[in-house]
Amino acid sequence: MASGLHGPRCAALLVLILATFHHADCAAKPNIVFILADDLGFHDVGYHGSRIKTPHLDQLSENGVRLENYYVQPMCSPTRCQLMSGRYQIHNGIQHSLFGDSQRTGLPLDSPTLADKLRESGYSTHLVGKWHLGFYKKEYMPNSRGFDSSFGFLTGHEGHYDHKRDYEHKAKYLDLRDNGRPATGQDGHHSTYMYTQRAVDLIHTHNKSKPLFLYMAYQAPHNPLEVPHSFEKPYKDIKNKDRRRYAGLVSMLDQSVANITQTLKDSGLWDNTLLVFSTDNGGTIYYGGNNYPLRGWKFSLWEGGIRGIGFVSGGDNITLQRNVVHRGLVHVSDWFPTLLSVAGGNLNGTKPLDGVNQWRSISLAAPPPRKWLLHNIDPLTKKKGKKLFPHTFDTRVRAAIRFGDYKLITGDPGNGSWIPPPEMNSVRAEVDNESSKKNLWLFNVTNDPEEKHDLSSKRPGLVKDILDLLAQVNSTAVPAYFPPKDPEANPKLHGGVWGPWV
Ligand SMILES: *[C@@H]1O[C@H](CO)[C@@H](O)[C@H](O)[C@H]1NC(C)=O
Ligand SMILES: *[C@@H]1O[C@H](CO)[C@@H](O)[C@H](O)[C@H]1NC(C)=O
Ligand SMILES: *[C@@H]1O[C@H](CO)[C@@H](O)[C@H](O)[C@H]1NC(C)=O
Ligand SMILES: *[C@@H]1O[C@H](CO)[C@@H](O)[C@H](O)[C@H]1NC(C)=O
Ligand SMILES: *[C@@H]1O[C@H](CO)[C@@H](O)[C@H](O)[C@H]1NC(C)=O
Ligand SMILES: *[C@@H]1O[C@H](CO)[C@@H](O)[C@H](O)[C@H]1NC(C)=O
Ligand SMILES: *[C@@H]1O[C@H](CO)[C@@H](O)[C@H](O)[C@H]1NC(C)=O
Ligand SMILES: *[C@@H]1O[C@H](CO)[C@@H](O)[C@H](O)[C@H]1NC(C)=O
Repeated sequence: MASGLHGPRCAALLVLILATFHHADCAAKPNIVFILADDLGFHDVGYHGSRIKTPHLDQLSENGVRLENYYVQPMCSPTRCQLMSGRYQIHNGIQHSLFGDSQRTGLPLDSPTLADKLRESGYSTHLVGKWHLGFYKKEYMPNSRGFDSSFGFLTGHEGHYDHKRDYEHKAKYLDLRDNGRPATGQDGHHSTYMYTQRAVDLIHTHNKSKPLFLYMAYQAPHNPLEVPHSFEKPYKDIKNKDRRRYAGLVSMLDQSVANITQTLKDSGLWDNTLLVFSTDNGGTIYYGGNNYPLRGWKFSLWEGGIRGIGFVSGGDNITLQRNVVHRGLVHVSDWFPTLLSVAGGNLNGTKPLDGVNQWRSISLAAPPPRKWLLHNIDPLTKKKGKKLFPHTFDTRVRAAIRFGDYKLITGDPGNGSWIPPPEMNSVRAEVDNESSKKNLWLFNVTNDPEEKHDLSSKRPGLVKDILDLLAQVNSTAVPAYFPPKDPEANPKLHGGVWGPWV
């Protein structure tokens, strides 16, 4: 692959250093901090005009590149899989849903993770927060997937204060581990404080002879909507309690990001740190999140489920455009090759990637490399309606694909209502009362991100072409793997703690 950010300089330096020392890595490799928010809605950052204030995210992104044509997957595990593997859901067998707590499944072991590859390229690698990439066997746990250290939880969500996850809506069990071992004694310590504190400690003890990769996978602002009163209080004008608490969780996350960057500055690491911020999927309107003016929310293939908040920022030594809104198509699977190129790493040993290297486009405004993007093909969701075009992709199947300005959706994409946030009381919600009767849509999402003008009946030739592309992409899919729940997963059988059971 192309040489990384500091490629030429790095190589020259390396020759120089190798002449004098035995083991020397290139000191110029940037530190990489990847902050992943959980269920943060498209509407819910200050710079998108939200009532929710995020001054630090606004400022950091202003001092970097805001990605405004950026896509993630509609839910947690699939987005995390793509981030860690650089491969689409259809190539990881996770096209249907997320990894259930009790399923014998996880991110396939047959391709290295981003952490594996960064470690191989000399990084010290750390996960703090949510994993959600499978844990039924030890091999699927973070410390077996390229992380030198890990602190956090394994399932999809849990109490922010008690760090417990229920089993089948019944008894609750601890889900918090420190390098694989159950971590007790944190009861009452809010997850957002706890993870930020761990990040601060990791930065303080980081040995600068290696570059740092810190993956901060917060649970905030995901439900349960538990937040210290001090963060909720500035939003007392918001009458809706869920929205108010969610806003508090977002503010707390914003402050955490500020604390992490400040700690990097105090430690002299910031100048050479690249920071990426991303959400994992759209907000969920049932737990305070919002994606207005986009349609739909978490779990759906409407823009509200998949168009993400994302930006790239960093210290002065990082070659990066500043104060720029980037409109090239960028996808969460792209971080894998992009960050490896920045790290001067290689793609040796990976299965074929779906992600593309966006670094030159993001950092230097080179032409955007991506022309199309598969959002997903889910063969297991119930088929809907009639097959509309013979001899090509079956329009009854839930799928979505982006092709240039166009987005084509088939099957049942989920509820596509336009729901403004509760505090925008002058704007009326528009309930999607039409899509239950259809199974095919075509939008120009560049001029119609709200997906209000379906062009599918006007452009049958184009629809056929994009369906043919979908059929071709589908022919590369592995079977969707969605095994039944295994009652042996019950933490009651394993010392009252969630963890590997096979
Ligand atoms: C940092 O790592 C280098 C290389 O492994 C080692 O020689 C050095 O002692 C370490 N420094 C500290 C403070 O641990
Ligand atoms: C950020 O750091 C300040 C100063 O140490 C501390 O008071 C605050 O609680 C921290 N916030 C978070 C969210 O960790
Ligand atoms: C940043 O770049 C300057 C000038 O090239 C260099 O002196 C300094 O060591 C670099 N700082 C870091 C943290 O890499
Ligand atoms: C790629 O990996 C293989 C097997 O691990 C190794 O033999 C080879 O040297 C590697 N090549 C590069 C360029 O790192
Ligand atoms: C996708 O490919 C699979 C396997 O080849 C096939 O069974 C399925 O019918 C295809 N789906 C659609 C919607 O064409
Ligand atoms: C879609 O969601 C809206 C908002 O929650 C709801 O009013 C509507 O009934 C839902 N439609 C369907 C078909 O479930
Ligand atoms: C469907 O929704 C539109 C827009 O919200 C509304 O104008 C129309 O009256 C609704 N139709 C029905 C049958 O509810
Ligand atoms: C989509 O809409 C934009 C904005 O109006 C327009 O510039 C572009 O040409 C349209 N794309 C196509 C392929 O028609």
